[in-house]
Amino acid sequence: MRNLISIEDVSPDGWDALYSLCREIIDRPGDYVDACRGKVLAALFYEPSTRTNFSFQSAMLRLGGSVFGFAEPNATSAAKGETLADTVRVAGSYADAIVLRSPLEGAALAASLYSELPLINAGDGGHHHPTQTLTDMTTIARLRGGIGGMTIGICGDLRYGRTVHSLILALSKFRDITYYLISPPELRTPDYVLARLRGEGAVFFEVSDLHRTLPELDVLYMTRIQRERFGDPAEYDRLRGTYVLRRDALDAARRDMLIMHPLPRLEEIAPDVDGDPRAVYFEQARYGMYIRMALLLTLTRLGREPAAPVRTAAQNGGAVCPNPSCVTRAETYLPQLSREDARTPGRLYCEYCDGEIK
Ligand code: NCD
Repeated sequence: MRNLISIEDVSPDGWDALYSLCREIIDRPGDYVDACRGKVLAALFYEPSTRTNFSFQSAMLRLGGSVFGFAEPNATSAAKGETLADTVRVAGSYADAIVLRSPLEGAALAASLYSELPLINAGDGGHHHPTQTLTDMTTIARLRGGIGGMTIGICGDLRYGRTVHSLILALSKFRDITYYLISPPELRTPDYVLARLRGEGAVFFEVSDLHRTLPELDVLYMTRIQRERFGDPAEYDRLRGTYVLRRDALDAARRDMLIMHPLPRLEEIAPDVDGDPRAVYFEQARYGMYIRMALLLTLTRLGREPAAPVRTAAQNGGAVCPNPSCVTRAETYLPQLSREDARTPGRLYCEYCDGEIK
């Protein structure tokens, strides 16, 4: 793996190597305080972030490296109209790896086309969030002793929740996992993610009732309704209180169930749940720092590699993705990249955002 754009860039062997390095770092942090001395990380955050940005920064600092970047794009040349491609080329000339968060779906793939450095997707709109998934996998592996052989309930905004998409794509590679996908009908899991579960022959149920499902679960992964991705604020207001997990409901759940959440948590987990030993979301955030240390250590060793020449939209046919949140709609020089899917002949999908083109 050179870039981490989608969690699928992490092969099973790649995961084993990262997780074993992560365990060593947790056990012997003192051995790693200089592991990235002299290395510099560029953290380009075009969208608000607390956990992900802090956890990348703290990860790099604990390895003895340094970080520069922005968390407020209005203070940068992006506000002057600089393209993503140029910002990445320039930031890349000062750093050893780039972390990028953007509200645009497919932004990390787009940026990687112009990057000479390893590029890490820290969230691209409502699409993917692979380092949150590494965090989630670390938490499950550490607290359950392994990832396969479990029943997981994933609850909330499965449509716009990018952490959910990456998590399902990752788990689909493990054996014996049963999924309860718990959401209101309006916020169901996207088809391209369900297609993966079907392709892997996974057992999954799309349901809307959290409390009826609770007794079945080994892991409950709660998510917030993603207000910023809704076109219509009234629709958000209608759906926001759909799920609220309270302490008394947990009597029906397994005694060793893990309650996870990528955070930030809004009203979907009541504060009285925090004291329950099954609530591991703050521990989960800490594992995120350790697995990001393992990732940064691995990728900053790779060095610079010239970016392959990229055809422009004018040379390659302009991208025509109809998804208004796709990066190609804002960065109009990007070449069209599309793929067919053997299961749905005649249809074309956008490589950047996975949306259907025709
Ligand atoms: C998530 C995100 O940004 O998608 N947060 C995070 O990175 N821990 C979840 C969310 O914002 O709901």
